[in-house]
Amino acid sequence: MNETIKDILKNYATRFNQEIERFFPFPEGNEKRVTQAMHYSLTRGGKRLRPFLVNETAGLFGLDFEATINTAMALEMLHTYSLIHDDLPAMDNDDLRRGFPTCHKQFDEATAIIAGDGLLTYAFEIMSRPSTAADAAVRCYLIEMLANAAGAFSGMVAGQMLDLIGATYSMSRDDKEDTIKHIEEMKTGRLLRYAVEAGAVLGKANENELKALLSYSRRIGIAFQIADDILDVTGDERTMGKTLHKDEEQNKITFVGLYGLDTAKQIARELTDAAREDISFFGNRAKNLQDLATYIIDRNH
Ligand code: IPE
Ligand code: IPE
Ligand code: MG
Ligand code: MG
Ligand code: MG
Repeated sequence: MNETIKDILKNYATRFNQEIERFFPFPEGNEKRVTQAMHYSLTRGGKRLRPFLVNETAGLFGLDFEATINTAMALEMLHTYSLIHDDLPAMDNDDLRRGFPTCHKQFDEATAIIAGDGLLTYAFEIMSRPSTAADAAVRCYLIEMLANAAGAFSGMVAGQMLDLIGATYSMSRDDKEDTIKHIEEMKTGRLLRYAVEAGAVLGKANENELKALLSYSRRIGIAFQIADDILDVTGDERTMGKTLHKDEEQNKITFVGLYGLDTAKQIARELTDAAREDISFFGNRAKNLQDLATYIIDRNH
C-alpha cells in the first residue's frame, strides 16, 4: 500500500524525536532547570515539518537522514524558541501548545524566556559543528542564512513585530493588505523557506534547482500561515493542541480576517498548486515535497 504523506511525515517525526536525547546533556547544577524547560517544549508534540523539509530537500540530491540531522534539529530548536516566546503573556498569551501546557505555564515566565534564549543559542552552536557540514564555508553560509531567516531584518523576528503592531494599532484596509503579506512571509515563511534552502545548500543544488526550490518554499511558507489562520477559525482545539479563535479576539491581521474564509482558502490552494508545479521537473523524486505542499493546506492540525 502506498504511504500517504501524513504517514511519511509521522515516520520521519518518530525518527527525528529519537535523536533529541543525543543533543541533551543535562548539567548537574541548579541551572539544569532551563535545559529541562528547553527539553520540555522540544519534546511535547510538534509536526516536525521544518526538519522534514530539510531532509526531503537534501534527499533530492541523495543526502540521508544523518547528513541533515544537525540542521534539522537546530531549525526545530529555533522554531520551538519562537513558539515559547509567541505564547508568552506579553505576546499571544497562550496556555496550551502542542497539546500541553505552554512553557511559561509548566515552568514560569522567566524560565520560559530564558528557555527560548537557550534554544536559540544552542541552534547556532549545533550549526557550527563540523558534523553539520564538513566544509567550513558551507557551514558559515548556512549559519548566515539561518540568522537572516530568524532575525529582525525581514526575518521571523521582524514578522512577529509586524504581527504585534498590526494587532495594536488601527490601520486602513490598504495598509492591512500590504502588511499581511509581509507578516505571513516573515513570521512563518522565512523559517519554512530556510528549511528548503538549507536542504538545497547541503545537497549542492545548482542555480536552476535552487531557484525552483526557493519559489516552492516561498509559496508553501505563505500558504502554511494562511492555513494556520484558517484553522484558528475552523479547527478543533483538541486536534490542534492550542487555543483557537485567538486571532479575531486579539485583533490580528490575517488573510481570513481581510478576505474571508473562502477567498483565503482559494489563495492558499493557488499557492500550493503553483508550488507543486515549481518543482515538477524533479519528477517522482519530488513527490513527497509536492504532496507536502497539498498537505499543508488540507491538514487538520
Ligand atoms: C505553528 O507552527 C506556528 C506557526 C508558524 C503558524 P507549526 O504548525 O509547524 O507547529 P508545530 O511545530 O507542529 O507545533
Ligand atoms: C506564530 O504565529 C509565528 C511564530 C511563532 C513565529 P501564530 O501566533 O499564529 O502561531 P500560533 O497560532 O500561536 O501557533
Ligand atoms: Mg503570534
Ligand atoms: Mg500565537
Ligand atoms: Mg495562529
